Amino acid sequence: MQPTHATIPQPQKIYLADYTPPAYLVRHVELTFRLAPKATRVIARIQFAPNPAAHSRDFFLHGEKLKLIRASIDGTPVQPVLVDGGLTASVPDAPFVWESEVEIAPIENTALDGLYMSNGMYCTQCEPEGFRRITYYPDRPDVMAPFDVRIESDLPILLSNGNPVERGAGYAVWHDPWPKPSYLFALVAGDLVAERGAFTTMSGKDVSLAVWTRAADADKASFALGALQRSMLWDEQAYGREYDLDVFNIVAVSDFNSGAMENKGLNIFNTAAVLASPATATDMDFQRVEGVIAHEYFHNWTGNRITCRDWFQLSLKEGLTVFRDQQFTGDLHGHAVKRIRDVIKLHTRQFREDGGPLAHNVRPESFVEISNFYTGTIYEKGAEVIRMLHRLVGPVAYGEALDLYFDRLDGQAATIEDWLQVFQDATGRDLTQFKRWYQQAGTPQVSVVKEYADGILRLTLRQHTPPTPGQPDKLPLVIPVAIGLLDSEGREILATQVLEFNQPEQCFTFSGFDDAPIVSLLRGFSAPVILRQENTSEELALLLAHDTDSFNRWDAGQQLARRTLAAMVIDNAPPSSTYLNAMQAMLMNEALDPALRALILSLPSEEDTAQNLALAGQIPDPDAIHAAHEALKNHLAEHLEAVLPGVYAAMQVDAPYSPEADQAGKRALANATLALISRTDHGQAAEAQYAKADNMTLTLGALASLLSIGRGNSQLAAFATHWADDKLVIDKWFALQVTEAAPRRLLNMLNRLTALDTFDWQNPNRFRSVLATISANPAGFHQADGSVYRFVADWLIRLDSVNPWTASRISAAFDGWRRYDTGRQALMRAQIERIAKAPGISREMSEMVGRMLA
Ligand code: BES
Ligand code: ZN
Repeated sequence: MQPTHATIPQPQKIYLADYTPPAYLVRHVELTFRLAPKATRVIARIQFAPNPAAHSRDFFLHGEKLKLIRASIDGTPVQPVLVDGGLTASVPDAPFVWESEVEIAPIENTALDGLYMSNGMYCTQCEPEGFRRITYYPDRPDVMAPFDVRIESDLPILLSNGNPVERGAGYAVWHDPWPKPSYLFALVAGDLVAERGAFTTMSGKDVSLAVWTRAADADKASFALGALQRSMLWDEQAYGREYDLDVFNIVAVSDFNSGAMENKGLNIFNTAAVLASPATATDMDFQRVEGVIAHEYFHNWTGNRITCRDWFQLSLKEGLTVFRDQQFTGDLHGHAVKRIRDVIKLHTRQFREDGGPLAHNVRPESFVEISNFYTGTIYEKGAEVIRMLHRLVGPVAYGEALDLYFDRLDGQAATIEDWLQVFQDATGRDLTQFKRWYQQAGTPQVSVVKEYADGILRLTLRQHTPPTPGQPDKLPLVIPVAIGLLDSEGREILATQVLEFNQPEQCFTFSGFDDAPIVSLLRGFSAPVILRQENTSEELALLLAHDTDSFNRWDAGQQLARRTLAAMVIDNAPPSSTYLNAMQAMLMNEALDPALRALILSLPSEEDTAQNLALAGQIPDPDAIHAAHEALKNHLAEHLEAVLPGVYAAMQVDAPYSPEADQAGKRALANATLALISRTDHGQAAEAQYAKADNMTLTLGALASLLSIGRGNSQLAAFATHWADDKLVIDKWFALQVTEAAPRRLLNMLNRLTALDTFDWQNPNRFRSVLATISANPAGFHQADGSVYRFVADWLIRLDSVNPWTASRISAAFDGWRRYDTGRQALMRAQIERIAKAPGISREMSEMVGRMLA
């Protein structure tokens, strides 16, 4: 029988090349909300003016799921023509006032896009295109206007953007003087309590700060408030950027599709990205909260004051703001560990995307649904591109360019061209070739040939970017390659230099040596490329032991691990003793930061091994990969058995809990050593740690160790009972069981977890705690009978009908399907096609599955 290939109809695409300026600009917006769960009235009074730069006079307002009650132009009632996705009307060729009243039902809004309800509270999410579900409006980021908002409700706390103007019985009025696009609009109404604080800006302006939560979460808001103050101070010191309103409000919401949103003066956060207490949040959670608070705060300048002309420019704000939050976290807690964590994320999330059917440019040229482009490429690769620019021009010129950026583009909706032009003007550098980083998808591969003779080292670098969907041929990129040299004793003989590698093939020579130097290449991961170099294991061990660049020390350890894992998977080889001995030396090296030791000791993920094998032309076998990882961990545990307890003991913290890096680093190494100890002591040490732990980092570390060796059932049950009232902690309980499940038992586990009353699947955090966590258990996901593929597809179809955004993001779990054997390929393909053909599938999901199958 011939396989039948479905032709999936592709929804309408929009193109960057088709951009036209808006026909009408908005001078001012006045909104009144009469809040009611089933019938909220929104009255809008909007001052329009013809845009002198427009190509047409067609008046179009976006609008979706709105019931139009009435409309008028300059006070005269009109009957607009309702069309797909909005309305049109004939309007004067001069400034005019549009008024409309619409009705919406926030309680029925399960997509959590626009105005919706969560736990009896009203809140909004408008980026990218949610405002059109609130009222008729030119819902595009290049239309910016000041807003006045009146909220009518009996709820005690009524918030919107900008500064408070008036508060009376049953209403509140807000004024936002800064022109903003509609995607930054926000409204919150609920029964909330505030953790309050203050900040005085560098020019002496006092700002009132508040983090709003449900009363039950009041004890988990103080860390976020402090993080906000640290962010405000850092942006003044590092970028000279000052806050520009009298108040800054943050609200915690438990039903939220993403992590957080930078609405002007009123950031709205997923509870998971703002609430933190030692008992309920891990060290990583604390660091994430601080990073997200910083990120959303930094958007005030990179995103809000200077916004995007259109959604193709999304990385203009997201890539830059991620780079800024990375700098912030590094400055506060140390750059070495932060850089390694960011690169791990880039490797597992972005490299995978860039090597598969969902690969796209940092600046896409077309899309169906922009909501599908909040990706690792826009965010993490976008940040890497800015990091490269920073490295190429140097920190001083970078600072000058950013000053020019803020001066020149403040109050505007800008493009990647504007951004690059600023760098060209500030530095005199021609960035024509550099711009390809924005226009070319795929991860470049860089190979290195080293030749040494007569005191001269000759490096030949070659670059090659494999084809990606719609882009068969690639041009050479400007790749900053940070390099250092060591002698055979491990002493640095050449401090870091940056090579500008911009040809398909290029030679660099270094001279004046007595002996062949050891090359430390791509220090600090100076470019988002895959480096293919033929280092010997001895060279890697030397770099791991002695490199002055801590990123490359860690990377040398990972390369050793990758090699031994590949040999174990392909040839059934025993683990390399070079690797095991090197790990012992690192573990025992007390001069090294414990956090760094913990990272060095961690194996690459199974996903990383799969990517590596695929790169080497192998078909990854998830079971064999899992078995090799387990075997290597067991070998490590045995090899280090004598020394692990001593290190574990040395990592115990007596002082009261603090999430700061020194304590967190010790706990990271304590948990990493505990995981290995548990493989030989039957969980004794882990049970003891669980019993006496007084913070979530150690509790969860102990529980993970126990589950990974098939124990911990009583602790798991006690944990669930103890934390039954804390949703965020119960999310961890769900996620941990999915991560640690033995691959063959995963389906059972999934069925059991999703049958529980507490599996509130319409809550995005709870849904993700099970469904998005499956990808952390690749051997479980890829069960050869396809049963888990079917399970995931079933749930994606179900969630898609209520919440397309969250469902379509998780569908990317299938993007690697072509990497696998024909049996698994067919099984995955069948599930992707089943999703594609499911009745009533959303545009978001339909685009995702269409791209995966194309
Ligand atoms: N602007 C986004 C929020 C957003 C995400 C809006 C998706 C619409 C769709 C926000 O600034 C953001 O990027 N948040 C990240 C966290 C951040 C630290 C990278 C998130 O929500 O995951
Ligand atoms: Zn962002």
